[in-house]
Amino acid sequence: MERDQLVDLTRRACKLARDNTTDLAPATHRVEAREYTSLERHQRDRALVLASPQLVGYASELPGPGTYCTKTVMGRSVLLTRASDGSVRAFDNVCLHRQSQVASGCGTARRFTCPYHAWTYDNTGRLVGLPGREGFPGTAVRSDGLAALPAAEFAGFLWIAMDPGATLDVAAHLGPLADELDSWGIGRWSPLGEKVLDSPINWKLAIDTFAENYHFATVHRQTFATIARSNCTVFDAFGPHHRLVFPLNTILELDTVPEEQWDPFHHMVVIYALFPNIVLSVTIANGELFRVYPGDRPGRSVTVHQNSTPLDVSDESVAAGAAAVFEYAHATVRDEDYRLVEALQANLESGARDHLLFGRNEPGLQHRHLTWERALAERSSAG
Ligand code: FES
Ligand SMILES: [Fe+2]
Repeated sequence: MERDQLVDLTRRACKLARDNTTDLAPATHRVEAREYTSLERHQRDRALVLASPQLVGYASELPGPGTYCTKTVMGRSVLLTRASDGSVRAFDNVCLHRQSQVASGCGTARRFTCPYHAWTYDNTGRLVGLPGREGFPGTAVRSDGLAALPAAEFAGFLWIAMDPGATLDVAAHLGPLADELDSWGIGRWSPLGEKVLDSPINWKLAIDTFAENYHFATVHRQTFATIARSNCTVFDAFGPHHRLVFPLNTILELDTVPEEQWDPFHHMVVIYALFPNIVLSVTIANGELFRVYPGDRPGRSVTVHQNSTPLDVSDESVAAGAAAVFEYAHATVRDEDYRLVEALQANLESGARDHLLFGRNEPGLQHRHLTWERALAERSSAG
């Protein structure tokens, strides 16, 4: 982000902190409980997510030609490779023979030999080896191959479309946010792995936990609230996406420092909500990514939590420190946010009360839900 813009956001954050307030939506907003519990809505949600461009990781997870990684998106295993020309490719990680996964984890490999019967594919997906070929007269080495999915590297991230016939236009999807996301560089920082939460909460409820900091003083009293302010957020919408700035407690110290000397990024956490199911959390030291997926039923979701660091993790003690920070952040989400909302999901499913209330001080939450509703309405009117 340009320094001018960062200083401007910091000025806004300082003013909110000084006035002990937050950016406010025009009105409160009601959401029906069944949006988190109904099977019909869940199926529409799943279709919506599957039809949207999917950010699946950092560009740095494919650091050079010949590298690969595997990703799971709503139960579907996807193999991503970087071909010799540097381009990113994606394939269903499903063997043409009997559907074994041909690759797992990540690493360097120009060829993938299926662990079941050793059919072999190159990193452009082509079948290049078929033991016992006489058994498969209809299958052609060099012309058959893994099913390709649209794939791209954009703004420092890896993107795919889950529909092989879809056009993947990430520039159009991100709009004016693309340059800003790219400018942080977090997609080029060192990746620190994935941690998965398979949780008894609706996927939207999982995302809701990232959409406001009104809960910090209570839920994160011993953790984030010791460093970050509560109920104090700079909010900006960018079409279907939005950005939140959560000021740290130290932000008020800037009051006595001339603006030219500000080091603004030391005093905030920047959260991006990317439509429809991605959360990014950026600080000077961490580029966290949460990929949140609807599960197999309304009250179930899968969150894949990733983190990247600008530090040099080739140094063992630095790597251990970065891993510890990631574990701490993950444990906070798992043991504080998600644990609390598990009981909230149970309440929603009990039918005790038919709606929830989003405050004026929760503009990010309102924006997420209004955007989902609008997108679902557009889909149903289109088809
Ligand atoms: S399933 Fe892959 S070789 Fe048989
Ligand atoms: Fe939280």
